[in-house]
Amino acid sequence: MKIACLGGGPAGLYFAISMKLRDAAHDITVFERNKPDDTFGWGVVLSNETFENLAKNDPLSAGEIRRHFAYWDDIAVHYRGQKIVSTGHGFSGIARKKLLQILQQRARGLGIELRFETEVASAAELAKSHDLVVAADGLNSRTRNEFAAHFKPGIETRKNKFVWLGTHQKFDDAFTFIFEATEHGWVWAHAYQFDADTATFIVECADDTWQKFGFGAMSQDENCRACETIFAKYLGGHRLMSNAAHLRGSAWLNFPRVLCETWSYDNIVLMGDAAATAHFSVGSGTKLAMESAIAMANYLRSEPTMAAAFAKYEDARRTEVLRLQSAARNSLEWFEDVERYLHLDPVQFNYSLLTRSQRISHENLRLRDKTWLEGAEAWFQRLAGAGDNTVRRPMFAPFRLRDMRLKNRVVVSPMAQYKAIDGCPTDWHLVHYGERAKGGAGLVCIEMTCVSPEGRITPGCTGMYAPAHEAAWQRIVDFVHAETDAKICCQLGHSGAKGSTQLGWEEMDAPLKSGNWPVLAPSAIAWSPHNQVARAMTRADMDLVRDQFVASAEMAARAGFDMLEIHCAHGYLLSSFITPLTNRRSDAYGGSLENRMRYPLEIFHAVRAAWPAEKPISVRISANDWVGSDGIEPRDAVAISRLLQEAGVDICDVSAGQTSIAARPVYGRMFQTPFSDRIRNETGMATMAVGNIFEPDHVNSILMAGRADLVCLARPHLADPYWTLHAAAKLGDRGEAWPPPYYPGRDQLYRISGSAEPVPTAV
Ligand SMILES: Cc1cc2nc3c(=O)[nH]c(=O)nc-3n(C[C@H](O)[C@H](O)[C@H](O)COP(=O)(O)OP(=O)(O)OC[C@H]3O[C@@H](n4cnc5c(N)ncnc54)[C@H](O)[C@@H]3O)c2cc1C
Ligand SMILES: Cc1cc2nc3c(=O)[nH]c(=O)nc-3n(C[C@H](O)[C@H](O)[C@H](O)COP(=O)(O)O)c2cc1C
Repeated sequence: MKIACLGGGPAGLYFAISMKLRDAAHDITVFERNKPDDTFGWGVVLSNETFENLAKNDPLSAGEIRRHFAYWDDIAVHYRGQKIVSTGHGFSGIARKKLLQILQQRARGLGIELRFETEVASAAELAKSHDLVVAADGLNSRTRNEFAAHFKPGIETRKNKFVWLGTHQKFDDAFTFIFEATEHGWVWAHAYQFDADTATFIVECADDTWQKFGFGAMSQDENCRACETIFAKYLGGHRLMSNAAHLRGSAWLNFPRVLCETWSYDNIVLMGDAAATAHFSVGSGTKLAMESAIAMANYLRSEPTMAAAFAKYEDARRTEVLRLQSAARNSLEWFEDVERYLHLDPVQFNYSLLTRSQRISHENLRLRDKTWLEGAEAWFQRLAGAGDNTVRRPMFAPFRLRDMRLKNRVVVSPMAQYKAIDGCPTDWHLVHYGERAKGGAGLVCIEMTCVSPEGRITPGCTGMYAPAHEAAWQRIVDFVHAETDAKICCQLGHSGAKGSTQLGWEEMDAPLKSGNWPVLAPSAIAWSPHNQVARAMTRADMDLVRDQFVASAEMAARAGFDMLEIHCAHGYLLSSFITPLTNRRSDAYGGSLENRMRYPLEIFHAVRAAWPAEKPISVRISANDWVGSDGIEPRDAVAISRLLQEAGVDICDVSAGQTSIAARPVYGRMFQTPFSDRIRNETGMATMAVGNIFEPDHVNSILMAGRADLVCLARPHLADPYWTLHAAAKLGDRGEAWPPPYYPGRDQLYRISGSAEPVPTAV
């Protein structure tokens, strides 16, 4: 095959090498606009895994790369006058220039023609004279633009500014992050050694800080001097250097996240940064480029036609790219939002930084650096009041709200059972909640329990509006208190426009087949075209419902509940006041967010006055309507939480969605946790996270990183009432109390669940 590689970066060169190794008869030319040693940038990092892939593909160049590697195992974080070091991270770095020289030499040795200082004006032209054109022309790929209508590139320019500098100061003991507070805001550096006397020094900051420094108007030299001043105490008198002569102006950039919808056109295929980028903070751009080169070379050999090879290449590499881009997005967003975390204690800040991409889990961190993680766990337990010498996972730390003390951080999330009769809980509820309380969670929250018959969602919903309800709930609460050390929370709610609907396992949210009752809402809007239009509440209705909430709270107090949660989420009555999607009122209860919050806050204040002062109250909110700017967005949720916090709400239970049939949620592991993270770290309010959290590791990393104070699990507790005790057994933690009659079962589980030795609970 006659092959043209457009671009002599890692992708173009390594593809040429990989093809030639598979068939020496290929006639390959690499076209590169720069001179051979004229490369921008400083060092790049490669993981051990990537290196193994390179070694399998071409042991010779891999050996040369290895000879020039700088290795380091530690990550050091300078933050608030402290240096925190953790180990076991295993990186290696190489100068970009050296990497390219090795690849150039290898390519020449294999008979590949390298044409430097050759600007290619059009890939289409090359495509006429070659069987295959690999467009590896980098981040600003001209080929991608030339065929933009076909490749359909999605380019998202990220918020932060960064500049890629170098220094002769040594950072050879650790990959180093430095966070510096300046008069214009925080500026931070990512620094790593890549050869004996040079280190990469990437400086990054928010746009606002960048503007205030006036970096944009500086020459590259002036920029280096300004950054030297900021980081003087870490540079030991060494200078910062720029080698971005190819960039105009100050050389600061905004990272563009690139992903093309299609990667090939006729006999042209995109590779490396031209096809997709990964943010530098996960250090994977070169990895992606070189591994894509290997994949393409393999498929061109294994597939019968070029088109089939392109299809396979795109299919396989897209999955890998999406996986990396998702980790990179988490990581770059962490840096974009870093000011949110800059109040954290250095231990928690470091943990948050290390786990930012969500690729490193809590237990993975233990494998990397057990000592550091145990120190962090001890810090967490100490802060939680567990005693100075306790080393346990964060999920097993106590938590206190007013006078309520929880033994651990796991919460059984409220889940409607639809098994009540005329609002009255039955033996189903006794057994159901009793089992969950026995199962080890620190807090069990009962399902949305309605303040009136009309306020029920379905005829199977529980209520707290009749003496019989109070007595039935008291029986359940008494059982929980007598037989377990779990606490129990009563969630009170009113269904609003989503009321008078079928049981959860029938047609959810659909009107009853018969016997519908009229429903109330802030405005005369139906939940869906199939539901009845609600009656807009008058002031008298609002007084009545408020009084019903108060009466229910009084009953819950008499029944002995430890905590109350007011349900202001999921499109039910109070939630439908908060979201502009369903609140169209023109009085003091509609319009601005303050107005829309007025009624839910009125209810809260009335309930708070009736609820024992020593017991906490939580409010559950939908932090995102998932409809874009027409509805509640996470930033509005911060404003909502501030109002709740000011009103004296003890904790915000951060859920999302179910407020509109137009919602388009983006699901995924822990998908609602970022909202809790944002609220907790921007307002300082205690939060509960919920939503697709199902592994102990999720719970531990959420808590340890300070993304929530408590973690709610709903569906996992339907599948396993003993989720917490099982998690403890699996993790080798022997500190959770089992009900005495179950000791033989516990002991057997301990014996068969992995670790023979119990994890010490104190050192
Ligand atoms: C600040 C920063 C830090 C980074 N750190 C790392 C890291 O630690 N680890 C890592 O793996 N990656 C890192 N990267 C990313 C990495 O540099 C790129 O992902 C990688 O270089 C992509 O390789 P490529 O071959 O696709 O593109 P490039 O390396 O950009 O190569 C493209 C080549 O094509 C040439 N070219 C372009 N147009 C033409 C034309 N019309 N005619 C002729 N030649 C042309 C260019 O001169 C260039 O040499 C970092 C990137 C940045 C910005
Ligand atoms: C069967 C079922 C019933 C639910 N009922 C309620 C409820 O009564 N009140 C409430 O706030 N959330 C309710 N939810 C939502 C859960 O509390 C939780 O927010 C959601 O299921 C996401 O958590 P998960 O991924 O752990 O299941 C219910 C969820 C399920 C699965």
